Amino acid sequence: MVKKWIFPVVALLALAFVSPLLVAEDEAKTDEAAAHEFIGVKKCSFCHKKDGTFPSWEKTAHATAFDNLKTDAEKSNEVCLSCHATGMTAKDELLEGVQCEACHGAGGDYWKKSVMEDRELAIKNGLIIPTAETCQKCHTGEVPEGHKELPAFDYEKMKATGVHDMPVAEKTEG
Ligand code: HEC
Ligand code: HEC
Ligand code: HEC
Ligand code: HEC
Repeated sequence: MVKKWIFPVVALLALAFVSPLLVAEDEAKTDEAAAHEFIGVKKCSFCHKKDGTFPSWEKTAHATAFDNLKTDAEKSNEVCLSCHATGMTAKDELLEGVQCEACHGAGGDYWKKSVMEDRELAIKNGLIIPTAETCQKCHTGEVPEGHKELPAFDYEKMKATGVHDMPVAEKTEG
């Protein structure tokens, strides 16, 4: 793997060089996810505590989805991680469970207030407004042998109970 970063500039240059290789290595990742860095739910929570999205997400099964992986073999099995974890940060920290960025895209380039406030700009920088397809990659995906059979997936029903509160739904419509 890549050595520990010394200066941010070195990190940026190295990332620009390394990321195409990572893309080739991991076909499961989408182009968008590979193009932006994951930052983790803690960072999203700084601004999304008050609007209720973070605290309500924290109570869902997604927040604890990693706890279903019991053994070290499972916790490092990329197949399990593809549905029970979110991704890796630039510092190689595994983001456990189905965090914000599993549905909204890696936030490294859209999390700043000036970008987030401008919906179109945020989308240009990697923010995903999830649709049924976003969920289906995990909920109608192929599970390993011996895995519990996944229940039928009903987007509207499961969005209502299993995602988080939608405090600004009216404001963001259209
Ligand atoms: C610096 C503060 C800040 C951080 C950090 C932040 N956000 Fe936001 N976010 C905002 C603001 C401000 C809005 C504008 C809407 C609002 O007022 O809630 C917003 C809106 C959104 C929306 C709604 C977009 C729409 O128009 O439907 C989503 C989804 C979102 N943020 C996800 C995230 C995720 C995921 C993260 C972490 C990767 C994150 N945010 C980090 C401040 C932030
Ligand atoms: C394609 C996505 C996907 C993959 C790959 C996957 N899981 Fe899951 N897993 C899920 C979903 C979705 C659920 C929730 C099912 C539900 O709604 O009850 C789940 C639930 C579970 C549960 C709880 C089952 C129960 O009885 O409630 C365990 C344990 C689990 N997974 C372990 C694993 C392990 C171990 C691996 C890797 C060997 C793995 N999963 C791979 C999507 C996946
Ligand atoms: C990265 C993979 C992934 C994505 C994307 C994802 N989920 Fe999940 N979801 C899971 C896993 C894994 C579980 C099981 C967690 C557990 O039981 O601990 C789960 C559990 C759930 C549950 C609870 C099911 C139960 O039996 O209690 C609901 C509801 C749900 N998801 C809805 C959604 C919706 C709606 C979306 C899209 C907006 C979505 N999920 C996107 C992986 C995912
Ligand atoms: C399982 C997938 C999933 C996860 C995980 C998730 N979201 Fe969302 N989020 C959605 C969906 C679906 C919508 C509604 C999109 C739409 O139709 O406008 C949404 C909408 C939002 C909105 C706009 C709210 C509104 O009223 O329209 C904000 C803000 C937001 N999410 C922030 C977050 C933050 C912060 C996290 C992590 C703490 C998070 N989301 C985790 C799926 C997810």
